Amino acid sequence: MNFRIRPLGIAARAPVSRLFSTGRQLSSTTADKFYVTQPIFYVNSVPHIGHFYTIVLADTIKRYAELQGKRTKLSAGTDEHGLKIQQAAERAAKDPLEFCTQFSDRFRDLMKASNAGITDFIRTTDTNHYQAVAHFWKVLVDRGFIYKGEHSGWYAVSDEAFYTEGQVEERVDASTGARGMFAIESGQPVEWVSEVNYKFKLAEFRDRLIEWVEGNPGVIYPEIRRNEVLGWLKSGLEDLSVSRPRSRLQWGIPVPEDPDHTIYVWVDALVNYATVDGYPWTAKPEFFPPDVQVVGKDILRFHAVYWPALLMAAGLPLPRRILAHAHWTMGSQKMSKSKGNVVDPFEAIQRYGVDPIRYFIIRNGGIANDGDYSSEEVLVRYKKDLVSRLGNLASRCLSDRLAAKLASFSVVSQQQVEQANERDATLRAMLVDLPAKVKTQFDLGEFGRGMALIFDATDAANKHVTSNEPWNIVQKDDPESEARLQVVLFYSLEAVRIAAIMLQPVIPEKAGLLLDHLAIDKADRKWSDTQFGAGWKNTTGGNINRPRESIAQLFPKIS
Ligand code: MSP
Repeated sequence: MNFRIRPLGIAARAPVSRLFSTGRQLSSTTADKFYVTQPIFYVNSVPHIGHFYTIVLADTIKRYAELQGKRTKLSAGTDEHGLKIQQAAERAAKDPLEFCTQFSDRFRDLMKASNAGITDFIRTTDTNHYQAVAHFWKVLVDRGFIYKGEHSGWYAVSDEAFYTEGQVEERVDASTGARGMFAIESGQPVEWVSEVNYKFKLAEFRDRLIEWVEGNPGVIYPEIRRNEVLGWLKSGLEDLSVSRPRSRLQWGIPVPEDPDHTIYVWVDALVNYATVDGYPWTAKPEFFPPDVQVVGKDILRFHAVYWPALLMAAGLPLPRRILAHAHWTMGSQKMSKSKGNVVDPFEAIQRYGVDPIRYFIIRNGGIANDGDYSSEEVLVRYKKDLVSRLGNLASRCLSDRLAAKLASFSVVSQQQVEQANERDATLRAMLVDLPAKVKTQFDLGEFGRGMALIFDATDAANKHVTSNEPWNIVQKDDPESEARLQVVLFYSLEAVRIAAIMLQPVIPEKAGLLLDHLAIDKADRKWSDTQFGAGWKNTTGGNINRPRESIAQLFPKIS
């Protein structure tokens, strides 16, 4: 018997143009390179589950781009300068750099524990970054966008941001009971500051920024954030204070040729996205500008207003897309140390395993709307989706009872599948349509919605197994039953294969192991292989289900 599973050839692989569809989507560029950025994290405290979300979301985008055959760059790092860090180090009575290193290492550890494929980890205290920022500053000066002026306003150390009169309010601090001034947007305390600063001519860029946002639908996603940005721009822009007096802020990069001033930490931080690609460039940058910049909604203004304006001023290209995600709450409350509702991602990874927690965070995490974290929900998702829907489907079609037939699982010819009897029609249509539907969601960055579609398909496949009862067919010993069994097995194996390929960006380890069970060649795990019937060409029936680890071990019980 020929043990080879032949490709069904129902449709040739999707043409390249379809795979890289047009429009501002995650896979929009036809270039073979893809650059994803994470925000760089403040080092004044340890990582929490919100940081983990940003990390996994960015990593998922990167892995998705790789499935499309792209060479990728994923940058990450730590934001180490500024008053916030200076004060935190002072409070801890530590040397600032030592203080930063301690926390920076924790973030680096988290990236590793999260299985995030970071290609560049930057610390803003790195020498090459210092040089990049100084260069960037000089370019802005040379191009006439920086001037010195008197600045008065409200400053929130926590946000490292100035606010205008209209952006602050007087109220009682819930945690201390003291009356004071607070930023309305972030809720952080502000202090009145009046000083001589360098300013960036931000106001000049208002019209060009509006044009950029309006002329590039999807450049800021989701829509609610795009509208927020347009609202800010349309209500007017003031020039931006881009330095603090050295007397107040020593922990930062000095203004070139004026050491009495320190460069504003946000300018310093934003330049990291260029530093990691070798800025200042002598030749063409390798990856810049970023294809997707992942940011939390709280730092949208910096990325969607200040950053593009700074780039325009420096004569550099703008990011292709800013994906602003929502936040994680717990008990529907903002996570905060004082409320004691901060989730430690290391503990979560330890407890559930990296892929189950990655799955939960992406499945339940919001792009437009906040997600609420609860341990119960993590388990519900794990048991319902990974164990019962996917794991169950896989173990049913790879069961011992069918093992002998799997070894001879062979020729499911195009003809056999095309003559699909009515009992296969629903599942077949679903599997044929699934990749394009999932892609639409993934391209937007809506991986949670994409996951939902994939698991709906596993439901349909499970139903198909239940109603076709392969364990009964296998008892019969006639050629017709034999042929039918092959088709039934094919459908469930095909559903697992397609699902597993698409799940790789989110649960790379588990999806990879599942594909190992199916003996799918490593070269046949790309997005183009999600096409119905494609991708079995290098598989032999005798190899299926060979891995030592059983499906039950793949999705073990956790509590
Ligand atoms: N250092 C700046 C970013 C500079 S980028 C040039 C910063 N750091 S941060 O550590 O405060 O936040 C980093 C990221 O974590 C942000 O994208 C932020 O939105 C995200 N999160 C922080 N708390 C969060 C939640 N509770 N939920 C989800 N993400 C949140 O901002």
